[in-house]
Amino acid sequence: MSELSVNHLLGIKYLNKKDIELIFETADHFKEVINRPIKKVPSLRDITIANLFFENSTRTKLSFELAEKRLSADVINFSASQSSVKKGETLIDTVNNILSMKVDMVVMRHPNPGASVFLSQHVDASIINAGDGAHEHPTQALLDSYSIRERLGEVKGKNVVIVGDILHSRVALSNIYALKLQGANVMVCGPKTLLPKHIDKLGVKVETNLQKALNWCDVANMLRVQNERMDISYFPSTREYTQQFGVNKALLDSLDKEITIMHPGPINRGVEITSDVADSKQAIILDQVQNGVAVRMAVIYLLASKIKQ
Ligand code: NCD
Repeated sequence: MSELSVNHLLGIKYLNKKDIELIFETADHFKEVINRPIKKVPSLRDITIANLFFENSTRTKLSFELAEKRLSADVINFSASQSSVKKGETLIDTVNNILSMKVDMVVMRHPNPGASVFLSQHVDASIINAGDGAHEHPTQALLDSYSIRERLGEVKGKNVVIVGDILHSRVALSNIYALKLQGANVMVCGPKTLLPKHIDKLGVKVETNLQKALNWCDVANMLRVQNERMDISYFPSTREYTQQFGVNKALLDSLDKEITIMHPGPINRGVEITSDVADSKQAIILDQVQNGVAVRMAVIYLLASKIKQ
């Protein structure tokens, strides 16, 4: 039986192409399960999972929790704002306390890049990175590629542009790794100030003109401007950002083909994307959310089967 090459999901950087294929095949199965009248399987009845969220989250947290429950795992939730972290406890102490209650797997979102790698080296549980600062967000990139595969048949050979705040986005970095691994052509597009200096070293095209980028691509993944990670001003005003890097219906209609629009959420309607685009048939934003549950079920299931061995 095939299995993942890793014991944790810390970033797409640590996966190979076969891992991604295995996750997608497994997700296909779970997608079928969650569309049944009884949306649950008993696979992980003997597994306990702790969701540790040290940073705000809506859909990622709900999606993980739903995925765990659909697999019949026992689930405990922890969010930093209501915890002893505020009293000065270290990350390792917090997690070891939770693990001493016999927890097998930890899903963690943390503001510090590398937090989940650090944790995997110090505690005895399988770790899933649910976003570490501006570094990686592997399950988001997996569900994004899975959604492209579902809409366009395959990821290989497709032209995908990631638009917006590439500098502060963990979604961008994980998507670049995932898309390249599967043989897609990747471009990043945004204001120069929001494009990391040596980003081309990752084998991506760089473009600062949105119209050109949209003419080139099959898929545009629109990112939110991560204001919460900015300590200085990276562009003159939101209005100007929208004028240059926002996607609206008129712009899409001016292209000579119909491209697919993605967004990881949360959307700032009217900033990076207008409502008529977000709610159009070209957008697969809600498919991404739905696929997120199946893809996370696949990741959790495959990692759990390595614990059981
Ligand atoms: C993203 C995140 O938190 O990194 N959202 C998500 O996980 N669905 C992107 C964002 O916050 O803009």
